[in-house]
Amino acid sequence: MKKIFADSEELARGAAELFVARRAETVALSGGSTPKLMFQILADRFRDQVAWDGIQFFWSDERHVPPDHPESNYRMAHEALLAHVPVSAENVHRIHGENSNAAEAAAKYEETIIAVTKQPLPRLDLIFLGLGTDGHTASIFPGSEMLHETQHLVAAPYVEKFKSYRITMTLPLLNNTASVVFLVSGAEKASIVKEVLEGENKYPAQAVQPIHGELIWMLDREAAAYLSR
Ligand code: 6PG
Repeated sequence: MKKIFADSEELARGAAELFVARRAETVALSGGSTPKLMFQILADRFRDQVAWDGIQFFWSDERHVPPDHPESNYRMAHEALLAHVPVSAENVHRIHGENSNAAEAAAKYEETIIAVTKQPLPRLDLIFLGLGTDGHTASIFPGSEMLHETQHLVAAPYVEKFKSYRITMTLPLLNNTASVVFLVSGAEKASIVKEVLEGENKYPAQAVQPIHGELIWMLDREAAAYLSR
């Protein structure tokens, strides 16, 4: 399903309204810049419409950095949203990017998700994902071994492009989610959006196909500019 919004502000508002409407109890947030405005709108305009203390927060992926690092996905979400709403601290499950051993951080995060959901193969209620201009999502990049990962639910691939490790949810976990929502904004994404939604199957984002859940693409008009339908 595709939903197209006039601009980035309307996209962020639409995503915030979906968050409120879904009443998800387990939510995974993505990183990057796109979700920030949605987080801010949730905190500013929908604060009183969400049962914050009933939500378990996770992340789809994290950079291999401490939580106070400028590149930390947790830090962005904390500053834009979590510091401004009454979430229960014990329900905020950040990926420990500060762990010098990224593989250990991934393994521990997998244990956390299983322990919190009490499911050996967790089915999260809602995940927000972004799309890179190279077709990556979460931290699953083109050519990555993550594309063939079938065992682990969270892994720590080395990303050549950034010369660093990332910690990321893998396709078995992402594809077990009830609602997967891609948020994509801006003219610089128009080409990759066309490729991913209407081109041949060769990008990581195209491997996100919830087995028994819904897949929603929320785009602003600029990002959707080259779509034929
Ligand atoms: C990350 C994200 C990544 C992001 C895309 C889009 O850790 O960077 O999880 O997958 O969603 O790169 O990023 P922008 O929203 O900044 O374009």
